[in-house]
Amino acid sequence: MLSWDEFDEEETTTAAPATAAAQPASQATAKLDNEAAGSVEEARAVAADDSDAIARAKRALDELDVREGLNELEGEAARVRVDEKRMINARADLNQLVPFKYDWAWQKYLDGCANHWMPQEVNMNADIALWKSKDGLSEDERRIVKRNLGFFSTADSLVANNLVLATYRLITNPECRQYILRQAFEEAIHTHAYQYCIESLGMDEGEIFNMYHEIPSVAKKASWGLKYTRSISDPTFQTGTPETDKQFLRNLIAYYCVLEGIFFYCGFTQILSMGRRNKMTGTAEQFQYILRDESMHLNFGIDMINQIKIENPHLWDAEMKDEATQMILQGTQLEIEYARDTMPRGVLGMNAAMMEDYLKFIANRRLTQIGLPEQYAGATNPFPWMSEIMDLKKEKNFFETRVIEYQTGGALSWD
Ligand SMILES: [Fe+2]
Ligand SMILES: [Fe+2]
Repeated sequence: MLSWDEFDEEETTTAAPATAAAQPASQATAKLDNEAAGSVEEARAVAADDSDAIARAKRALDELDVREGLNELEGEAARVRVDEKRMINARADLNQLVPFKYDWAWQKYLDGCANHWMPQEVNMNADIALWKSKDGLSEDERRIVKRNLGFFSTADSLVANNLVLATYRLITNPECRQYILRQAFEEAIHTHAYQYCIESLGMDEGEIFNMYHEIPSVAKKASWGLKYTRSISDPTFQTGTPETDKQFLRNLIAYYCVLEGIFFYCGFTQILSMGRRNKMTGTAEQFQYILRDESMHLNFGIDMINQIKIENPHLWDAEMKDEATQMILQGTQLEIEYARDTMPRGVLGMNAAMMEDYLKFIANRRLTQIGLPEQYAGATNPFPWMSEIMDLKKEKNFFETRVIEYQTGGALSWD
């Protein structure tokens, strides 16, 4: 682990001449502090020994118009007041993180960082042995592993693309953008995790990564999501009218409530159920961490949607409520079809009918989370253990395959 003392030591011994090296560090620092560095103008002036490239760089900066650059920044050039901050269409300067308005967004950013993990930390040896052994898994179990790696390996890329190409630009709040950047990195880790599983198991990478074009139940989910990215990823698209604001709200509902909130749940349940039965425990552990991240993404998205509704009540009219309900019902239907395709028979103590119940239960939750009435009367949760996994704290390891204590790389010690 690095410490500040090492930095100081290195700087003193390499920068100071041999005689000064013997002086105490504090004396050497005081001497440096007192030495005049010369004026800024002097630094900018072209010196006789400057190369042509250095001289051109200095002259280019002489011509730099600071006002022109700053005018291009988003938001107004003034100190930010909390009451000027807004989720969409804010005029406050977006480069001033504080004062915070949405503490929930900053807290989620901190929580996301505290949950950091990497796919290589998970031991995949048992999975490799099981996947390669002739009688390790049934054909139905193998289908579940392949379909899910096929769906997820591209789904997380779709989510990441939507985040950085559309959502980030249109959310006009710096603390939310801070979380979106963290989320975008987590999506990269998720895609990495699927790639790591696919590579470890020696699967046909072309077959798995191209599945979202080839398998109808996977393709339908992907194209349903893409439709909503397409509408707002045009770089000239702007919010600011009721129609464009609604278009953006639809995108948030599609990605947070449906893609991350429904489309991931059949696959997560199947793979985690496998882990509970001591099969593909490494893959299941990867999915377990991903699910924990995803439940935070979902909660962040729900908070954003609800905050936008509070700040723009005119957007949440009867037509928009009906559209949002329809989107969640369509997503649930597509996920039910995916459950049937991936489980033509009962497998791992579950079947497509149970999954259908679970998905309706999840859909009811998504509806109520954004203030809409439930649509599936009496739907119950046949997999209560899923909620336990989602609430898992980092010090507790469900599969007990390893001790989990994350080390954030390159942390500085202050003592
Ligand atoms: Fe993800
Ligand atoms: Fe996500």
